[in-house]
Formats: sequence, structure tokens, C-alpha cells
Amino acid sequence: MVQPRSLLFTTALAVALSSPFVVAGPVQKDGIAVPPNMAGNRDAVKQIFMDSYEAYKQDAWGHDDLAPLSKGFVDSRNGWGATIVDGMSTMSIMGLDNYLGDAIKFASQIDFSKSKTSDSVSVFETTIRYIGGLLSTYELSGRKHPELVDKAKEVADKLAIAWVGDNDIPFGHINFGNNAPDKQNSNIAEAGTLTLEWATLSKYTGDDKYRNLAEKAFRRIATNPSPLPGLPAQGIDPNTGSPVGGYVTWGGGSDSYFEYLIKYARLNNTGEALWADTWKLAVDSSIQTLLKKSTVGDHSYLTDYDSEKRNVYVSSHLACFHGGNWLLGGQLLRNQTVVDVALQLVDACWNTYASTATGIGPEAFAFASVDGNYTAGSAPTPEQQAFYELHGFYPTTGAEYYILRPEVLESNFYAWRVTGDAKYLDRAASAVSSFQKYLKAPVAYAGIQNVNDVNSGKFNDMESFWFAEVLKYLYLTFDDPSHISLDEWVFNTEAHPFQIPPAKGAYGTPSGQTPPSPSQQHPFTPTQAPIPAYSQSPTLPGILHIPEGIIRSVATGILNIIGFQL
Ligand SMILES: *[C@@H]1O[C@H](CO)[C@@H](O)[C@H](O)[C@H]1NC(C)=O
Ligand SMILES: *[C@@H]1O[C@H](CO)[C@@H](O)[C@H](O)[C@H]1NC(C)=O
Ligand SMILES: *[C@@H]1O[C@H](CO)[C@@H](O)[C@H](O)[C@H]1NC(C)=O
Repeated sequence: MVQPRSLLFTTALAVALSSPFVVAGPVQKDGIAVPPNMAGNRDAVKQIFMDSYEAYKQDAWGHDDLAPLSKGFVDSRNGWGATIVDGMSTMSIMGLDNYLGDAIKFASQIDFSKSKTSDSVSVFETTIRYIGGLLSTYELSGRKHPELVDKAKEVADKLAIAWVGDNDIPFGHINFGNNAPDKQNSNIAEAGTLTLEWATLSKYTGDDKYRNLAEKAFRRIATNPSPLPGLPAQGIDPNTGSPVGGYVTWGGGSDSYFEYLIKYARLNNTGEALWADTWKLAVDSSIQTLLKKSTVGDHSYLTDYDSEKRNVYVSSHLACFHGGNWLLGGQLLRNQTVVDVALQLVDACWNTYASTATGIGPEAFAFASVDGNYTAGSAPTPEQQAFYELHGFYPTTGAEYYILRPEVLESNFYAWRVTGDAKYLDRAASAVSSFQKYLKAPVAYAGIQNVNDVNSGKFNDMESFWFAEVLKYLYLTFDDPSHISLDEWVFNTEAHPFQIPPAKGAYGTPSGQTPPSPSQQHPFTPTQAPIPAYSQSPTLPGILHIPEGIIRSVATGILNIIGFQL
């Protein structure tokens, strides 16, 4: 199955000689190996997975998440057993075949025709966790379980109602009771993070409908007018397809739209330049307008940018996927500038872990650069100011928590596979030991309310992305680098890997010939449209405008603990 490297190289060379394009580069560094003294971490991570999953089986089997403090369960993903389906690809990668066999049996019997909890079903969350988990496991199992494709099709056929009539942009939520979309505003992450999964579903069902729907939404976002070249506003109205507001961020509500531009170019592997060109433009624009260095520590961050054209000096755990994503794209496009900036972003995000008492980073943070420190929130408290003077960022008020998110360790994984620098292994090992020390709950593992407090209170919800993302990226960091190579697989935003063919000659148009974006042709004017629905959801200081769906299901229980109501 695996092509010898020499053959890949010969193919690439042939393409290089016959085309004016830059040949796509390999993503992973050749010849890297995990030193023996680090390899033990792989088993430690597998043990964390098994301890977590055993507790889930004991107290929450068939429900979405384990509640590790009360030994109960949480159903925040429509009660279809999110942990089982989201965990399957990791079980396969870790070789946990007993768990996997039962999980596949369970998954093939889910009734997706109705929600077991509220009738409202998120198109985005259901796509990335359930469709992503089902299809990735189908591929990882050597395509031996077509019942997984049938289940993905069953749920996608319901979700397709989100494109009522002829709209380009799907509504974010569907009522599975009466099959009607909830006609509220959506955002570019919800609408633009469907292509990998829906195109893969088309591939295995032979029905182009799924890919066409997802591409239609993606294409509309990429060609709408935008506040900055390549950087669309977070809000979007599915009724009209038009942008809502003018808020730009690489964080929640926008994040995985950018992520999928380059990943879809790689998965699809055809000549359409739009995806890679738009990604390049987004990165270029971000380097020009959003990239700032902190006055303390010289750390590199991407600011947000508001509808009054102000940089907002905040970032977040969710945004920290950007380093890994820029490494992937920078390698594919052979752009060393992008790779170098990406590694600075990876370092700055890791610094948010290295600087706290637990060695784990906060949900959101703020910083200052020589040209500004506007955060849209209140001025830093004396404690925050003091923290900033030491560390070059400070956790924003109300966002000092960690809820088992992956992004910092995800980017660290890319940095290891791309550079082979052992410092990334040390960082991952340090995270494993922090998790063992500070996240242990009565059963399994739990998020913490304050990353800077070694005796912090915990959250009563073990999200399914703990299994799908955090433990998979950590495990693969310590595994043989040729296992799930970044040159053979592309991860969906929930860390479910999809198989990719060898890279083609180049992605996008040759450098310097990127067509002007529509935003340059038609100046962007923020709408005076009704306030986006999601601005009514909890506005945690420092993470503005994060819609309910994109909090990635901070379960109601957690929000109650931190004093918010969804
Ligand atoms: C790539 O996209 C094109 C156009 O939508 C489609 O015809 C083709 O089948 C896609 N290929 C894959 C591998 O998804
Ligand atoms: C590499 O990326 C940078 C930043 O976007 C850009 O300015 C530069 O033109 C790119 N280089 C090439 C050769 O495309
Ligand atoms: C932000 O800027 C103001 C005014 O220049 C200054 O007083 C304040 O200390 C700065 N805050 C930080 C965190 O640098």
C-alpha cells in the first residue's frame, strides 16, 4: 500500500519538469525517529485512553459523554453515543481492537432518524464528530465495514435539509423532529467545515450530491466580499449567503473554515486553484495585518480584527490550531516564510502552557504589542498585568479554564513531524505528565476551571474530543512517524484522518499570480444587519462572538459551573 519514497520522488520530479508550478513539498521531514527514551510516553497515553474509556463504559455507555465527577453521563450531542463514534479512529490507531469491535457494532445500530435529546441538531458538530468518525474508521479498517458508510449517509441525508431550496449556505441547526432548519444566522466555521467529510461521503456512495452541497457553501464564503483579503467576516446569513458583521478571527466561529481551505485542496487533489489560493491569501493577509509580537517575550500572535477595523489583541486555545495548519500549507506550497511564522505561532501557543502552575494553557488570553493593546474587554487587573510582565500574555477574566481541548498539542504534533526537533517531544511529554497530575477525576479525567491553580475545581464533563483529538495527537507524537504520515492522511477538524493520494504537482496558481479576491474588487461594507443570533450566547471575556455550536459543545453543565446559561 505504501509507495516507496523513491517512486513518489520520481513522480514528483516528472511533474516538476513538465509544469511551471512549484512542486508540492513533502510535509514530514524524512528520516525522523522517536528516541527510545521518549517512546514510553506512547504507552502512557494509551493507558490514559483506556482508563478514560473504561470509566465511560462503566458509567455512561451509549450516552455522549462521561460525567467524571458524578460518575454519570452528559448528552450534549443528541444522545447518539458521541464518545464511541468519536473515539473509534483513535482506537483503531492505538490497536485497541476489542473496544473497536464493540464500537463498530454500536455505531452501525444508531438510529439517526431522531435526536434522543433536544430536537435541534448541529450540522457542523454532527458532521465533524459523527460523519467524520464513521468514514475515517471505515478507511482505517481497510474499508471492511460498509455499514459505517451507510450510517454516515443516513445522518447526512437528514442534515442536507440545511440547504433549503437553493441556498448556498446551510443553516447551522436542523430540527430533526419536524425536519425544518432553524433559520438563524450561522458562521463561516459552521458552514465552511463540511467539505472533507461530505466529499469523502460522495466518494464512497458514488453520489456527488454531498460534495456539491459542501463545496457550494465553501465556494460562497471564499468568493464573498470580505473585510480583509482572504479573511471573511465570522458571521454569515444562510438566507442570503451574505456576510454578517465584520469580525475577523482565527478563533472559534471562523477557525476551521481556514483550516479546510488547504486541507480540502490536498484531499481533493485536483487542479482547482481557488482553495489553495484563498488559503494563501488568508495567510498573507494575516501576516500583514494580524501578526503582532508581544512587548514582553517577543511572542508572535495573530490578533482578531473588529468591524471598526481595529486589531483586538486577544487569542485563544481554539485559535492555536493555526501553527499546525500553517506548517501543513507552508510545506505543501514550499513557502519557508509561512513555515517560519508557523513555528513562531507554535512556540507562542506552547508558552501559554509552559507559563502556568499546571503546565496547561487557558481557554483565552490577551497580550500587548508596541502598536496597541486593545482587547475589547476591561483593562488587565494588577494580577493579570503582573502575569503579563512575566509571560508575555495573560489569561482573560472568566477564560482561565481548560476543557480538554487539543489545538496546542495538535500544532505541537505537526511541528514535531515537520521539523524532527526533539523539543516538541519534550513539550508533549510535559503535557502528559501535567494531565496525569492535574486532570485526574474520581473516575477518568476532567477539565479544570483555572489552569494557574494546582488545586483547581474541575468540570463534570469529559468531552468526546478528549478521545478523538487530544489523546490521538499525543499518541501519534510518540509513535513511529510513518504511522499516519501527514503525507498520506489529512485530519478533519476533529482529528479523524482521511486517506489522501500522493501530492500532485502544485496547489493553487504559481506564486505572484493569485487572482485578486472579490474583496479587492468590491470593497467590503459591514452590514447593519440584525445582530447575529450567536452574540446572545455567552460572551466569555476575551473570546468574543463565539456561537453556541462553536464552543464545541461546552456542555450545559460546564456553563452552569462557570455561571453562564446557554
Ligand atoms: C474533487 O472535486 C471535483 C470537483 O468538485 C470532483 O469532480 C472530484 O471528484 C473531487 N475529487 C475528490 C477525490 O474528492
Ligand atoms: C511565501 O509567503 C509569503 C507570506 O504570505 C509571501 O509574501 C511570499 O510571496 C510567498 N513566497 C512565494 C515564493 O510564494
Ligand atoms: C496598554 O496601553 C496603555 C496605554 O498605552 C497602558 O497604560 C497599559 O499599561 C497597557 N497595558 C498592557 C497590558 O501593556
